[in-house]
Amino acid sequence: QRVSGEPIAGFAQVRHNPPMQSLDKTHSKGELSDFDAFVRKEIEGFTYRVEPKVDGVSMSLLYENRRLVRAATRGNGIVGDDVTVNVRTIRSIPLVLPPEAPEALEVRGEVYMTREGFVKLNEREEEAGREPFANPRNAAAGSLKQLDPKEVATRPLDVVIYNAGGVGCESFATHGEMIEAFRRWGFPVTPWSRECRTIGEVFAAIDELEKLRHTFRFEIDGAVLKIDERRFYSVLGATAHGPRWARAYKYAPERVETVVESITVQVGRTGILTPVAELKPVSLAASVISRATLHNADQVARQDVRIGDHIWLVKAGDVIPAVDSVIVEKRTGDERVFQMPTACPVCGGKVEHLADEVAVRCVNPLCPAQLQRRLEHFAERNALDIKALGGKI
Ligand code: IVH
Repeated sequence: QRVSGEPIAGFAQVRHNPPMQSLDKTHSKGELSDFDAFVRKEIEGFTYRVEPKVDGVSMSLLYENRRLVRAATRGNGIVGDDVTVNVRTIRSIPLVLPPEAPEALEVRGEVYMTREGFVKLNEREEEAGREPFANPRNAAAGSLKQLDPKEVATRPLDVVIYNAGGVGCESFATHGEMIEAFRRWGFPVTPWSRECRTIGEVFAAIDELEKLRHTFRFEIDGAVLKIDERRFYSVLGATAHGPRWARAYKYAPERVETVVESITVQVGRTGILTPVAELKPVSLAASVISRATLHNADQVARQDVRIGDHIWLVKAGDVIPAVDSVIVEKRTGDERVFQMPTACPVCGGKVEHLADEVAVRCVNPLCPAQLQRRLEHFAERNALDIKALGGKI
């Protein structure tokens, strides 16, 4: 019932009413204090609410007669793409609302890809010889742009609703009450938010959220501070960029410096050769990391990662260790450029670079590395689930 039959030719354009705005960003507590001072000059008797800033793709969902009739991307804020056929495949989005919900309702939020889903999708992309996605946001955006809803249905997408649209939300006194109603009507909403009276409480909430940032199903790149009482929205108004009743606060991306000690080449189940950076072990976002995939030779060349380089290490999608960039200033001249092997490093057989792929493959079906990976794949949890058979045994 969620996946319609045929691939579509392209996306129709949708005009947003009102426009889907952006948020003014702050990067320091000082800037937030300035915002607080501004707000206190304009209004009194208000409370703040702090929420996660979800790093995904903004989306508008429109319901008529309590049925989902249109889903649209933000686009340039005025006009976006009608991606209804794709968004219908997201199982957590209600297609029909309960009788308590208004007949006509527009809600807005963020579509994201779960961490786990992102890791799996990238494995699939690499096995198919395609370039993996850099992060869950790109993977979500790429998925929504697919023309075949059947393909979209295989992508692990989800949504968080955090804002009112143009209709059906007029009666709520506070943002908190509105989000609570969205939850009752079946929409996924943020599992965490804090009500704050003072800017000091806001700072404490922002710090608390930063510590929790890796525990959510979605990636967060900051906090959003909102005035809770909706009657103040029209008083505070908006700039061309965004509303004056909200501010984003961006967290610094987590990264650590380390050294590429060598680059090894791994042979996968389907014969794909993957260069892997062997790193001086460092701890990042709650784990110790000593290896990071470099995906393929194109990627190594693009980032110009050399053996001996100092690099910034990040976690793509908060889970996959990845080289963010090379710290070129730290080069001594002793670094060595990596060459992709011309024979399989395990069986010594021929490798092929198919014209339409980024990958290089070992084409020997009896290559011991491939055999082992195939056996592991056969025994793994999603396949025959043979508990006593795995990489170590
Ligand atoms: S409220 C007028 N709440 O961040 C816009 N936006 O960088 C009010 N975002 O365009 C939006 N998490 O797509 C709001 N909890 C949250 C959010 C959120 C992520 C997005 C939104 C916005 C972008 C600005």
